[in-house]
Amino acid sequence: MTDQYWVVGNPINHSKSPAIHQAFAQQCQQSMSYQSRLLTDDNFESSLRDFFSEQGKGANVTVPFKERAYHLADCLSTEAVKAGAVNTLALQADGRIKGYNTDGLGLVTDFKKNLNVDLKQKRILILGAGGAVRGVIEPILAEKPNCIHLYNRTRSKADLLAELFGSGVLAVDRQQLTSGYDVIINGTSASLSGQNIELPDDIIASHTICYDMMYAREQTPFIRWALNLGAAQGFDGLGMLVEQASEAFQIWRNCQPDTAPILKQLRQDLQNS
Ligand code: ATR
Repeated sequence: MTDQYWVVGNPINHSKSPAIHQAFAQQCQQSMSYQSRLLTDDNFESSLRDFFSEQGKGANVTVPFKERAYHLADCLSTEAVKAGAVNTLALQADGRIKGYNTDGLGLVTDFKKNLNVDLKQKRILILGAGGAVRGVIEPILAEKPNCIHLYNRTRSKADLLAELFGSGVLAVDRQQLTSGYDVIINGTSASLSGQNIELPDDIIASHTICYDMMYAREQTPFIRWALNLGAAQGFDGLGMLVEQASEAFQIWRNCQPDTAPILKQLRQDLQNS
């Protein structure tokens, strides 16, 4: 029987993951089925357990279930442990379900491979301190930036994350933001609701590269704001989406897809939507 994979979340019908993984499978000549499943608070664990005990080989997990997937997994990758969340589950040869978090690696790969931005020695500001930010800090730290400042509307949450990740990450309040960061990453959910984040203008300089982990057909409010202030470049998170999927595909199928044509196609589709 064809190997079965799911992406689960709630809502899920907007997910681009089935199209991405089907394109990967075609490219790598892999025979597999990848489908989306809408799960609920009541059936998340039972549905996934049934899936894995029958024909399921792996699953991607998205909002709002990444933390529950962390608890469901029988064992975890080091990134998943630090992230406290799992976006990829993989059936192991011994029957255990292993949890991974490929979001951070997806973000770093997007910077390095697609955007040609090296994070080494960069002064980085990350906005937000929710699950999405926690998921990406460890792989960014591994790139050896000069510093990571963490700024969140609710300061206490940034403090908690800084404590968790140690001396490479500093929680800052508005007065401690410095001028002209090299890289600013928006990991808040503000763009989802089209909201602006209240920020001082001087964090942007002409060399500042801005990245929004969200993506949308139009520029996100954060990217628009940064480019209006003269930031060097502004990117959205579509590349991160494709690269985190590629990491998951490699875990499951031991084959590395070429993400460039798929990212190009998704960008075109987004612009025509
Ligand atoms: P996710 O899993 O997407 O990270 P989350 O854990 O609910 O979602 O975190 C959302 C993040 O976006 C938080 O850091 C939140 O700030 P608070 O901790 O102060 O709530 C941030 N956020 C959401 N809307 C925002 C806005 N309009 N301005 C600034 N920060 C915002």
